[in-house]
Amino acid sequence: MPPPTLDLHDIQGLFARGYGSLKAAAFLLLGVEDSDAARNWLRAVTPAITRADTRPAERAVNLAFTSSGLERLGLGPETLAMFSNEFVTGMTTSHRTRILGDLDDKAPSRWKWGGPSSPRIDAALLLYAPDGAGLRALEGEQTRILELSGLSVLQRLGTSDLDGFEPFGFRDGVSQPFVEGLSKAGPRETTVRAGEFLLGYLNEYGLYTDRPLLDPSADLDDGLPRDAAGSGRADLGRNGSYLVFRQLRQDVGGFWRFVDAATQRTDGSSDPNARMRLAAKMVGRWPSGAPLTLAPDADDHRLADANDFAYHDHDRRGTRCPIGSHIRRSNPRDSLDPRPGSERSFEINRRHRILRRGREYGPPLSIDQALAGDDSDDRGLHFICLNANIARQFEFIQHTWLNNPKFDGLYDDADPLVSPSTPHGGTFTIPTDGVRKRVADVPRFVSVKGGAYFFLPGLAALGYLAGSR
Ligand code: HEM
Repeated sequence: MPPPTLDLHDIQGLFARGYGSLKAAAFLLLGVEDSDAARNWLRAVTPAITRADTRPAERAVNLAFTSSGLERLGLGPETLAMFSNEFVTGMTTSHRTRILGDLDDKAPSRWKWGGPSSPRIDAALLLYAPDGAGLRALEGEQTRILELSGLSVLQRLGTSDLDGFEPFGFRDGVSQPFVEGLSKAGPRETTVRAGEFLLGYLNEYGLYTDRPLLDPSADLDDGLPRDAAGSGRADLGRNGSYLVFRQLRQDVGGFWRFVDAATQRTDGSSDPNARMRLAAKMVGRWPSGAPLTLAPDADDHRLADANDFAYHDHDRRGTRCPIGSHIRRSNPRDSLDPRPGSERSFEINRRHRILRRGREYGPPLSIDQALAGDDSDDRGLHFICLNANIARQFEFIQHTWLNNPKFDGLYDDADPLVSPSTPHGGTFTIPTDGVRKRVADVPRFVSVKGGAYFFLPGLAALGYLAGSR
């Protein structure tokens, strides 16, 4: 089947790119009290929204709504019910907190935003600029428009530019799926159908993901695309994507102190090489980004962008990249049952991909500073990803792959980087050619500070929402 033609002019830019050259970013979380005011604001802000067919050099603005936000803009319960259940009920229902592992001290009741004890979040305005001055100007303009419309900024989430590295010190954003229909082409095994990220396009099952289809008479301006499946209905979801947002605090000091203690020589002195090796085993890549499967013994900057590899043929047992490492769990590539190494294995894997668009926050911390305990600042990752089916993509990865202590033949190992299984710590298993090593009592390095499920509508859908009653 030929790749689909994506309506890039109607799709928000974040789908096509993470705006890597726009190094300054801020995310404004908004609350809507008055529906008319919100629609006026939406009309005022829409011309500034960056579309996927432009490559912005100066600024980018994208906009997403929670289900309460869509409700406030005037969508009725029947229309809302056509969005996915995860989105409509939100990230903090008791069922979802169990799936996501947001329990005990990670429970939504303790979050700074998005939880039951903080104000309701209706929208997120995502702002990007090349530098701080550009961001201040953009933010000033957008805040004025918000104030004039009577909307309130509930939280401003700032970000920091760590030069492509996440706060633990590893390169981030290296591996992304190829998307059918976008210009960057890749091999079939790792090229995912557009309907995995956008509503209104065919997904990996050859089906259209559930989406809000309206009676055409509701589309007064005839602005919405028609259902690609041919029902004749107006598709409010087409060209839109679900945006998962989680503020993940990283205990960078705790991470480096743990790997340092776990690799000390018998005389109690630190062993920097062994320390880095263990940290890289936990991630699955070296700090430069070089994957352990291709560079098993030492970091190799020439392989910093390498992503064209699989596990079955060269690293079946995980002697290079441990099965429990973060990247192998979050994208097992061809190691999935029933037939690892086969096209079938890739096919199953393609149903659980996400487009990551996160940004770091907080000041940088070197390993030396971390070991010295100089780490009181709040820092971490504003984890953002796009997908068309939150349950089958983001939640599946988090629940069945990252948090699951029984992942792929392991029995007491959750993801060592982002989610040890119990508050007391988990195990990290490192297969070797001899006896496998086990690192015990891995503490928790990442905690959730806030989060919500949003919908990033297409431009025509924004127009509909701005006019809807
Ligand atoms: C603070 C928390 C996190 C940190 C520090 C972190 C860090 C990293 C790093 C260093 C990489 C390797 C470089 C790259 O390919 O970009 C990576 C890859 C990845 N992470 Fe995370 N991550 C975090 C949370 C998550 C979560 C919550 C998910 C999903 C639920 C996730 C999914 C992925 C995926 C899908 C990849 C690509 C794997 C591949 O294709 O090989 N990460 N992450």
